[in-house]
Amino acid sequence: MDASDLLRNSLLQLSKQEAVRDVIQKAPVSRSVVKRFVPGAAHADAVRAAAEMAATGRMATIDYLGEDTTDVARAKQTKDAYLQLLTALRDEGLTETGTAEVSLKLSALGQALPGDGNSIALEHAREICTLADLAGTTVTLDMEDHTTTDLTLEALRELRSDFPSVGAVLQSYLRRTEADCRDLATAGSRVRLCKGAYKEPESVAFQSGADVDKSYVRCLKILMQGEGYPMVATHDPRLVEIAGALAAQAGRAATSFEYQMLYGIRPDEQRRISDRGDRMRVYIPYGQEWYGYLMRRMAEKPANVMFFVRGLATR
Ligand code: FDA
Repeated sequence: MDASDLLRNSLLQLSKQEAVRDVIQKAPVSRSVVKRFVPGAAHADAVRAAAEMAATGRMATIDYLGEDTTDVARAKQTKDAYLQLLTALRDEGLTETGTAEVSLKLSALGQALPGDGNSIALEHAREICTLADLAGTTVTLDMEDHTTTDLTLEALRELRSDFPSVGAVLQSYLRRTEADCRDLATAGSRVRLCKGAYKEPESVAFQSGADVDKSYVRCLKILMQGEGYPMVATHDPRLVEIAGALAAQAGRAATSFEYQMLYGIRPDEQRRISDRGDRMRVYIPYGQEWYGYLMRRMAEKPANVMFFVRGLATR
């Protein structure tokens, strides 16, 4: 294990430490260090960011920050926040034809609550899907650590029986993902393929970057050759290029798949891709619970750590 793997593992462990989170998260979202990745704490901030994307030809998917909720009132509050967000997006004309959709973490909607957490999360997700559908847009389920993959894919199946356009994330670092891609490469199925951002054991996940990238290409081949709608979620220039080649090889039109990147990461590349006529969707997180999200972004790029520490030390 080299120094950057050590740093990555420590940051991913820190991302789950509630005591540290409670101290660090007191910094307001307005701090420039947070603002690079999170446009703000209020619905209006997310709506403004989505409108900015639309003005430059990019689509958006919006995530109300929060995860691992252990309190039923909090899970309900998250569901309500999504309903308010969807209403605000619709009022701004941003939901028609899916210009802006939403991304959900089932753990924020109650999946981890003891007892019937799973059905609580599913019911919350169903309410959000109903409003999204009425507003003319859709929902994508984020994927969390591997202990929740089966539950999330089961929720996807349930939701898709009423809302066929609901999609889900698959993570190429998991050994199972090639098989999941095969299952989901069917007509109307939206799959957002990413590398994966959690700390996972070797028994379930590839550990080296090279193996994760090779798995990404194998998964992407299956999705591009399949009948579904692939969503290529990566900032990796090599994988972006390979995705374009695989789409061309499969005879796909530019409207039959999309590229996706995170808010604040490689914005020039985002615009270059949308300017050349391909679809680009930007994942926009907002809210006060930015700690876990930001820690995973630090873990992906050690240079961000100094940016973060310097930002917290000033102001
Ligand atoms: P990689 O990490 O190899 O980065 C490639 C290049 O991109 C870097 O060299 C750098 O230039 C740039 N870059 C990447 N990360 C950066 C950062 N944080 N700051 C600055 N530059 C950076 N994960 C998950 O487990 N579950 C999920 O549901 C999702 N959802 C999701 C949605 C979308 C739209 C995206 C783009 C990503 C996710 N992810 C995710 C995160 C994903 O798993 C992964 O951790 C990150 O995208 C980083 O991996 P890359 O593929 O970008 O490659």
